[in-house]
Amino acid sequence: MPSEPITYLAGRVCVLAGDLTEQAVDAIVNAANSSLLGGGGVDGAIHRHGGPAILQACRNLRTSLWPNGLPAGQAVITTGGDLPARYVIHTVGPIYGRHGGHEAELLADCYRNALALAAGHGLRRLAIPAIATGIYGYPADEAARIVSLTLCETLPKHPEIEEIRLVFFSDEQRDIFLAHQCFAGNCR
Ligand code: APR
Repeated sequence: MPSEPITYLAGRVCVLAGDLTEQAVDAIVNAANSSLLGGGGVDGAIHRHGGPAILQACRNLRTSLWPNGLPAGQAVITTGGDLPARYVIHTVGPIYGRHGGHEAELLADCYRNALALAAGHGLRRLAIPAIATGIYGYPADEAARIVSLTLCETLPKHPEIEEIRLVFFSDEQRDIFLAHQCFAGNCR
């Protein structure tokens, strides 16, 4: 399959394999957990590469806006610290099978709220990993359908957002997304 990014939605969405922490965009989106205090996966990579300023900003959010933690589907924004990206938007994906059948809606909320937050901060270029498809166990094929349909619905509401990179950690994960996305209206 392709080594070049594949684009959808008039070129505003591009799909590629790579490392999210290396993306030189206005904001990358973190697949965080409710504590906002770091973890494994892409969360761990972001804190490792981004440095302590990100964790400190997350701690401040915990003591101010979200004392009980960030609920699944919600999103917050912090500095990007030492990352090439200026900001990190942290969102909490649903743990597959643990939200009473509302997982699809919560996953869609992650993307809706991340885009709304980016637009609210005047950000134009974002990079987003495959939220919830790692440790949180969301099946990648189901997620591809939800993510593509959500972006089809949401991106037109935010004309100021110029570019969304969907960044997959391997060619295989990218190819699963490409095989199951619904950007072209190709899903029933
Ligand atoms: N760049 C891009 N994608 C990455 C990277 C990276 N550097 N590292 C991991 N990924 C991919 C994984 O392969 C997976 O497809 O990100 C996707 C999301 O996986 P996780 O990081 O495990 O996130 P998630 O499934 O949402 O689980 C969240 O894991 O990392 C912890 O603290 C986090 O507890 C939270 C949970």
